Amino acid sequence: MNAKTQTQASAQINIDGKDLQCPIIEGSEGEQAIDIAALRKETGMITLDNGFVNTGSCQSAITFIDGEKGILRYRGYGIEDLAERSTFVEVAYLLIYGKLPNKAELEEFSTGLTNHSLLHEDMIHLFAGYPSSAHPMAILSAMTCSLSTYYPKSYDTPDDEQVDLDIIRILSKLRTIAAFSYKKSIGQPLIYPDNSLTYCSNFLNMMFAVPTEPYEIDPDIVRVVNQLLILHADHEQNCSTSTVRTVQSSGASIYAAISAGISALWGPLHGGANQAVLEMLNGIQASGDDYKSFLTKVKDKKTNIRLMGFGHRVYKNFDPRAKILAQSCEKVLSKLGINDPLLDLARGLEEEALKDEYFVSRNLYPNVDFYSGIIYKALNIPVDMFTVMFALGRIPGWLAHWKEQRDSGAKKIFRPRQIYTGANEQEYVSIEQR
Ligand code: CMC
Repeated sequence: MNAKTQTQASAQINIDGKDLQCPIIEGSEGEQAIDIAALRKETGMITLDNGFVNTGSCQSAITFIDGEKGILRYRGYGIEDLAERSTFVEVAYLLIYGKLPNKAELEEFSTGLTNHSLLHEDMIHLFAGYPSSAHPMAILSAMTCSLSTYYPKSYDTPDDEQVDLDIIRILSKLRTIAAFSYKKSIGQPLIYPDNSLTYCSNFLNMMFAVPTEPYEIDPDIVRVVNQLLILHADHEQNCSTSTVRTVQSSGASIYAAISAGISALWGPLHGGANQAVLEMLNGIQASGDDYKSFLTKVKDKKTNIRLMGFGHRVYKNFDPRAKILAQSCEKVLSKLGINDPLLDLARGLEEEALKDEYFVSRNLYPNVDFYSGIIYKALNIPVDMFTVMFALGRIPGWLAHWKEQRDSGAKKIFRPRQIYTGANEQEYVSIEQR
């Protein structure tokens, strides 16, 4: 990881006449931060930043985003190139190990993923314990944590070799868990991984094959799944990735950290938005509303309705992932010969919102989730599996951040402060007198 660069400049904080000089740190793309590490020690004060809107929690060499210009790069490579020219497995290697793999490295990494796809047979019984209505994100998170019980060497300061093995296990087995949770929810027999298939083909086979008839894997669909996973693979310090780093900082196992990341991703303001977008589109269609009257409701703050799939904490211009997905969406639907009225509805909403003062003045543009749900639907992936697809894509990013933080040797536990607003000291009152 690049060491932080301290610039010549500094920021001066003056509190009650006392000055504190804070160094200014500059990243490799020129973004600057005020280093306030000495603030509390020197002044007794802390900063307050709800939602961490202005707070950098770490230095990282993995992903660069310029939200104003709509730029996203993994390890310096533009998302457009990676989505067009790479496979998901290559991108996973890039994020985790910092370079695009050569042929031999890719071969070794892919073989590892192939060889570690099976779950311990005892784990299969765990699926039976869930109701068939269980949300697959709950199963994925719980099973990821459960995996650690089969690999206890991951608990205690694992060495590099153990970490590499756990990384392979997580990337490979979570795909199996995701597909098994779907099969369980529809009551079909589990389809075990097939070592002759590539990463994404194997996933599609476990999801859609049945023992009674052959399942043909369409290479165009495999390409789209690769692309979807690549586009979701990392996004620097978002809610779930920060969660993974927070758990890592406590010294808990890599499985515990990834499981916590999956739980954080589940929420509708984060990864759950792709499910929420499709439910929103279905809801508009079922209510007979047109998109204009729906947008009127969104703009009325009293309704608390948001246009799901729009807006982003970082992108204040187009989300580059949404641009790529809007094109893929057209291609997939036309390849599959699907004429989905939800796509017309989504296009109408987008067009109308992009010229509406409410959305324009708040810099709200379509994000990655606006079109992904329509593609998943076209691929026959059920709605409550959408966020699981996001999670499968995000695993390499979480692993890369976990590893970067572990390799940096940083031993500081993440422990924010607060401003207490509760009662002042009170005298204890016994229960008879309350
Ligand atoms: N629909 C309507 N109004 C919105 C929306 C939206 N989707 N997003 C933001 N706003 C308004 C918000 O009401 C606020 O208005 P005002 O200034 O009048 O109070 C203003 O825009 C700023 O919103 P914010 O909530 O302070 O912005 P944020 O940066 O904290 O939130 C967000 C970012 C993604 C949570 C938010 O835009 C949102 O809720 N979007 C819908 C959910 C969604 O699509 N999430 C997926 C994000 S991309 C995938 C991922 O990385 O997880």
